[in-house]
Amino acid sequence: MLKRCGRRLLLALAGALLACLLVLTADPPPPSLPAERGRRALRSLAGPARAALAAPVMGAAGAAGPGALAREVHSLSEYFSLLTRARRDAGPPPGAAPRPADGHPRTLAEPLAPRDVFIAVKTTKKFHRARLDLLLETWISRHKEMTFIFTDGEDEALARHTGNVVITNCSAAHSRQALSCKMAVEYDRFIESGRKWFCHVDDDNYVNMRALLRLLASYPHTRDVYIGKPSLDRPIQATERVSENKVRPVHFWFATGGAGFCISRGLALKMSPWASGGHFMSTAERIRLPDDCTIGYIVEALLGVPLIRSGLFHSHLENLQQVPTSELHKQVTLSYGMFENKRNAVHMKGPFSVEADPSRTCDAHSAAPSPLPALCLPLGSQTRLEKKTTLSSLI
Ligand SMILES: *[C@@H]1O[C@H](CO)[C@@H](O)[C@H](O)[C@H]1NC(C)=O
Repeated sequence: MLKRCGRRLLLALAGALLACLLVLTADPPPPSLPAERGRRALRSLAGPARAALAAPVMGAAGAAGPGALAREVHSLSEYFSLLTRARRDAGPPPGAAPRPADGHPRTLAEPLAPRDVFIAVKTTKKFHRARLDLLLETWISRHKEMTFIFTDGEDEALARHTGNVVITNCSAAHSRQALSCKMAVEYDRFIESGRKWFCHVDDDNYVNMRALLRLLASYPHTRDVYIGKPSLDRPIQATERVSENKVRPVHFWFATGGAGFCISRGLALKMSPWASGGHFMSTAERIRLPDDCTIGYIVEALLGVPLIRSGLFHSHLENLQQVPTSELHKQVTLSYGMFENKRNAVHMKGPFSVEADPSRTCDAHSAAPSPLPALCLPLGSQTRLEKKTTLSSLI
């Protein structure tokens, strides 16, 4: 008897919670069906896009790494696949010093409005249709005032979508220099904007804005905050050029750009001597590493501010199937793409089959600011993709 009462009370509570969630997610549906966009985005990733990351990386492979890392690598993609492999093989670092970590519920430090955050999306003209359109029709369309597109080519179709397009005038090549050139422009524009937080993402990232704002609001923007996900479980070993013919080893953590990272204004201002007005490029030359490593170098090695490692940012290098469905709505960034030659996808298994309860996935996202079409669509199968679209228009 008592048991039955308890169950009914539980059911009533669950019902109330569901009703709350439905009210919370009563956003208007995205303007149109981005299914074709999703397919194109995936095709673009399956192609030579990643392989085009071809900048020589010298001195990046550290002494601390296992054998595979200790040799010189010749392309960024090779470099990153070595990093991920080494990370998997290594397990937890022995005797690693405790580092700041995030991912747990945190208390509010400072209320944030969307206009307090500057999100830089890095893309290139080649991917405007293939990748950016999908983002524009999903998460960016709902957060235009926060989002700035950094690209290398004019595009009328893009300009019709948003006024926040910055033509970087950097080379369209995927070289180390071109990447640093773009990051330098992003940094300068953020400083000019006067906003409280700088976040950088790639054009294959889905940003869960509510989760992002919640995370950032748990830190005062005047403090030194550098938060993201490292692609290694140990600091990167690099060689720092200190003068014309003198180099010395340096090691530091960095947040991988492919998962997105954020920097508080307080810290960004301190970075200025090495990051503003063209200095970023020369700083990057000092360690001859890509843009995201250079950020880590400035923050950790030069300013002594530790990276806050967060499990809420995800790059295409990770196996997204390991993110439990119940945790998806808490993630700040998700990235779709290829992982070890398999299509990367969030795991959608649950008590009901997709057939029986097609809304499962979006149920899981019901606490998120939008039906997450960008997440559901490119990651799911074709059938699921269409179901999801119907669903997002219902929510
Ligand atoms: C790129 O060049 C154009 C034309 O010269 C200029 O208007 C624009 O401000 C430049 N962009 C940046 C980021 O410097």
